[in-house]
Amino acid sequence: MQVADPLARIAALKRSLGAVILAHYYQDDDIQDIADVIGDSLKLAQEARKSDASVIVFCGVHFMAETAKILNPGKTVLMPDSAAGCSLADSCEPRWAFEAWVRRHESLPLVSYINCPAWVKALSTVICTSSNAEKVVSSFPRDQAVLFAPDRHLSRFVAERTGRRLVPWDGVCVVHDIFEEKRILQALRENPGAELLAHPECPVGILAHAHFIGSTTGIIDRATAPDARTNTFIIATEPGVIHEMKKRAPGRVYIPAPPNQTCACSYCPYMRLNTMEKIAECMERMEPRIDVDIELARRARLPLERMLEISRN
Ligand code: 13P
Ligand code: SF4
Repeated sequence: MQVADPLARIAALKRSLGAVILAHYYQDDDIQDIADVIGDSLKLAQEARKSDASVIVFCGVHFMAETAKILNPGKTVLMPDSAAGCSLADSCEPRWAFEAWVRRHESLPLVSYINCPAWVKALSTVICTSSNAEKVVSSFPRDQAVLFAPDRHLSRFVAERTGRRLVPWDGVCVVHDIFEEKRILQALRENPGAELLAHPECPVGILAHAHFIGSTTGIIDRATAPDARTNTFIIATEPGVIHEMKKRAPGRVYIPAPPNQTCACSYCPYMRLNTMEKIAECMERMEPRIDVDIELARRARLPLERMLEISRN
């Protein structure tokens, strides 16, 4: 028997299940092309919140699908590959050490980057993403020190931008942490006039040379702005964002930033586990399915709702 190609199977299953497909910008190009909504972490959380579809197929990593489930306990949330984790979320382990760190600073509010597991969200005062971290931290009084987890590079960046004292957890993203200053400087020398656009998960040595620092959406908007003062951009984040850039502003030059000498590309090894075939399969089998304990979801929802409220204002 001949099996239909994944594209046709996904289209048919979407209709029969009443499903919506949400995808992050780090997904393969063909996945971005079939998504109903594509965005950064904030946009995907907002869309998951307002979607009226009974089934959400989340093409991203586990913490994103888990966030969609926490915001929609009554809906079925599927992800194509349950092994699609995130090094930042993993860096919160061991749990006892993280909980001890929070207890040691129990008088301080905890702001957690959305790239963390549900149990960290449940301990948090408020969640943030790369697109609203400054706004979320600035919602606390100026003299209020804040615990910030799990990304130490984002923490340093937000502390500098907001003038707040942040106490960081020591996590990093394995994709952004390996960009190397001397290779970025070489790329800038080889492309005079180019703008370096960087994600705030990059180390300080990269951010120091960036013309713009922002979320994946922010980076795409900057590279495709009609009034950009250059047409060449060096992109210091996962190169999946370049697909959307080429669609919006095809005539420009987008150069993926070179990572360190030992690494050939900066693809996220977790995000790239998802494939069209796995999307079709998860919709056929209705698994892997995300489940979050009801009480844990209730506690994790509160700081997420606070973030969504702050982002609305
Ligand atoms: P954004 O929210 O900027 O899309 O970032 C998500 C992420 O995982 C970055 O590595
Ligand atoms: Fe996590 Fe980094 Fe992959 Fe983003 S790029 S999902 S932070 S490992």
